[in-house]
Amino acid sequence: VSLKQFNTFRIEAFADQYVQISDESQLVKLHTDNAFDKSFFVLGGGSNVLFTTDYPGLVVHIKTKGIQHFIDGNYVYVTSAGGEVWNDLVWHCIEHQFPGLENMALIPGSVGASPVQNIGAYGVELMDVFYSCRAFDTKEGTFVTFNRDECGFTYRDSIFKTKYKGRFIICSVTYKLHLNAKRNTSYGAIQQELDNRGITNPTIRDIAEVVSSIRVEKLPDPQTIGNAGSFFKNPIISAEQFEGINIEFPNVISYALADGNVKLAAGWLIEQCGWKGKQVGDVLVWPKQALVLTNANAAEGDEIFDVSEQIITDVRQKFGIILEREVNIL
Ligand code: EPU
Repeated sequence: VSLKQFNTFRIEAFADQYVQISDESQLVKLHTDNAFDKSFFVLGGGSNVLFTTDYPGLVVHIKTKGIQHFIDGNYVYVTSAGGEVWNDLVWHCIEHQFPGLENMALIPGSVGASPVQNIGAYGVELMDVFYSCRAFDTKEGTFVTFNRDECGFTYRDSIFKTKYKGRFIICSVTYKLHLNAKRNTSYGAIQQELDNRGITNPTIRDIAEVVSSIRVEKLPDPQTIGNAGSFFKNPIISAEQFEGINIEFPNVISYALADGNVKLAAGWLIEQCGWKGKQVGDVLVWPKQALVLTNANAAEGDEIFDVSEQIITDVRQKFGIILEREVNIL
């Protein structure tokens, strides 16, 4: 089965076997048939994966649908099936006047993938609104619920990427939203765009629209040019290491974290190495955001991977920082 339509890099890769899950009971059946004893890969929106070769196993594509909610006092609990498109859930909540997801409008991908890497954008992370998720344990063949603490969320990370990598399939996610939550306009670009539009008291719809327009302006649309959003994570370094870098590069873009460490803008580091807008074969480093690698035409997965290696090397040589990929490499 060709996976080209199922990954936003639009890489041609073939899976030995492919199954779409529209009902959770299919997972139980796959377990009974010992399908999970061989190699398998769980696919959601395909927006965070780079296929560098064909996949010699079973691709499990989660397509379950359905969104429910229940209100308890000042809170609403919204439960969405893992196969829902993340942005559809964001707009579902906006239509219902449930605040909390609007800053994460237009992030590509599925609901089931949202906790795996603790997606985030424009001042809000998934862990801020996450309540629990229901997951299928491919080892035991049972359904398990994880609460927020059990997921071990950190910046773009959770136990589903570390300790439990390749074990659980997230079937549904419940978000806990405060009905009177304040709008989060802490991110400079949001406030600026609201000012441009003359909006002083934004609704959640205003925020989602502003965030969407910022994203459209800066990030390539996966429908027209293959990409998987930020290819690397923003690196987190110690205050000491930061001091050294800051002396040599006084313009370095940084955010102090509560724990004393410092987060740097990987896009800036990559740009300083001369990669912004650079094209190697069909791999184009996005001219408006150097953190995004794109498939300009018919790039192979390993060509994109090679460019990412060169970027890692250059950033290490110039700044002594080792960039980590955000995208899953298969
Ligand atoms: N910058 C540069 N050059 C570049 C790119 C960025 O100098 O080529 C500078 C910007 O001017 C800005 C700073 O770096 O001062 C940060 O840039 P931006 O606001 O675009 O955000 P980011 O840190 O590059 C992160 C997320 C994005 C998310 C934005 C907005 C990661 C890895 N990426 O990017 O998430 O949309 O913040 O919150 O944390 C994604 O994960 O796929 C993604 C797009």
